[in-house]
Amino acid sequence: MENKKQLIGSVLGQSSRSEEILIVTSLDKSGQLKKATILAHDTSFETILLQVIDKITMSDISEQDLFLMSENERLAFKILEKSPITYVLKSLIVGSIRIVNGKKTIFCSPNSFVADKSRDVRKLSLEEKKMIYDRGSLEVGTTFDGSKVTLPVNGLLQRHLSIIGMTGCGKSFLIGLLCEELALHKAAILLLDPHNEYLPMAQSLPKKTKRMLYGLGSVAGLNNYTLDVKNISASNFQHFTGMGDGSASILDQAIRDLKKRKIRYSLDDIIAVLNDKVNNSSKSEATAASWARNYLLNLSSSGFFGTNEPKIGEIVQANQVSVIAMSGIKDKIQQFVVTNLLQRIFNARRKEEIPPIVVIVEEAHRFAPSGSNVSSSDIIRTIATEGRKFGICLFVASQRPNRLDSTVLSQCVTNIVMKIKNPADLSSVRESAENATDDVINELPKFERGEALVMGESFPISIRFKVRSERTTKHGGMSVDYESIWKEESDKTDAEIYDFPDEL
Ligand SMILES: Nc1ncnc2c1ncn2[C@@H]1O[C@H](COP(=O)(O)OP(=O)(O)O)[C@@H](O)[C@H]1O
Ligand SMILES: [Mg+2]
Repeated sequence: MENKKQLIGSVLGQSSRSEEILIVTSLDKSGQLKKATILAHDTSFETILLQVIDKITMSDISEQDLFLMSENERLAFKILEKSPITYVLKSLIVGSIRIVNGKKTIFCSPNSFVADKSRDVRKLSLEEKKMIYDRGSLEVGTTFDGSKVTLPVNGLLQRHLSIIGMTGCGKSFLIGLLCEELALHKAAILLLDPHNEYLPMAQSLPKKTKRMLYGLGSVAGLNNYTLDVKNISASNFQHFTGMGDGSASILDQAIRDLKKRKIRYSLDDIIAVLNDKVNNSSKSEATAASWARNYLLNLSSSGFFGTNEPKIGEIVQANQVSVIAMSGIKDKIQQFVVTNLLQRIFNARRKEEIPPIVVIVEEAHRFAPSGSNVSSSDIIRTIATEGRKFGICLFVASQRPNRLDSTVLSQCVTNIVMKIKNPADLSSVRESAENATDDVINELPKFERGEALVMGESFPISIRFKVRSERTTKHGGMSVDYESIWKEESDKTDAEIYDFPDEL
């Protein structure tokens, strides 16, 4: 009896595309099916998994199409023509479950597709759902038919991860959720945050998770992340400021002079040496020195150059989420900070001075762009190719995969893909995500906010799910609510107008 309830329809056969299977069902049965539901068809060897992608209705079919149809599709047409309550579903073969050494195992493709036992198509059993969707202890969401979706900690972290999707689709929200879930496992997490959007998340983590929040330069309420001036060369300064070669060369001399005299020196010390050169050099040298000095004076007001940088052992600790908030700082300086930090992390992990760590690079295309090199490109590529064996797991998030360095993207063998519309970005995802079929990729433009597809080695079948909306921490990257802000502002000004004392 139970089995009967699980029955959804029967296999009609393959359509003109070999991986697409047509399923005949009825109006009431198909009405129970939610988007992307996976159904099962048992053969003598295995259980074939079929993901419903669409239903064919009479209005989809024109007389002309009949000539282009396969035999099975023509049959579907005839069935639909006869009975208004019969439905034909299009489904994709997404994998199979076979028994190997006495254990049920998921494979990404079946041995063959032969309806040799029966034509029955049924719902998944609870055990099968658990195998497919409930793969670990990180609770990230549910499928459209309400099955819990969980990801395995090691399965996720032993490979790098990319999180891709157009702006506003929910990437940062998901990253916040992953941080929250990983924090339950006492993870060491470093977030490179160009928009300061993860501060509310980190601040609202449960008390038992440590947090270290750094701002570049002096930012109220945050720890000061300063760059140690002694690690910065004249050419680095030239890179940040765009100073001319003449000024950079005088600056180089000034730094060399200082290094001979002092082990530690500050930006003010360099400025003092340059001042000296302004006053005691030939006219052309004095001019170059004064330009260099002015550039450095400009930098010194930012407060992010000092004599001490935070120790890596303080930034990276187990059971700690660290955020480097970089909003409002020039790209070149952000890239330099990221370079410096990641190089130190890479070296420290090689010597096992710090615990294994998850490094999250938001807006990754700004730190490792395709087609050009910025200062952070090399270290991100190095971590992408070698970090895994040293216990550095990279999460890169980007709305423009097409603009992200292809080495970095291809090393992220787990992909979480959200809504994407841009054709160039769709093709980068198609290239980098090895086990994504065209049909899966073609669905991406239709994704809603918070809808995601996870695929990769730890996921023999890609899982399409809704990211959990309830978080215990606050999300910082809120969309601007124009209507209510305008209303609030205008109410304020209205109040001011009406509160104005009437002097007449
Ligand atoms: N799964 C979700 N549930 C509820 N709200 C979400 C979800 N994902 C995103 N949002 C909301 O959508 C908006 C944009 O999400 P965000 O993660 O900042 O987008 P992205 O980083 O992709 O640009 C935010 O206001 C966020 O609160
Ligand atoms: Mg974002």
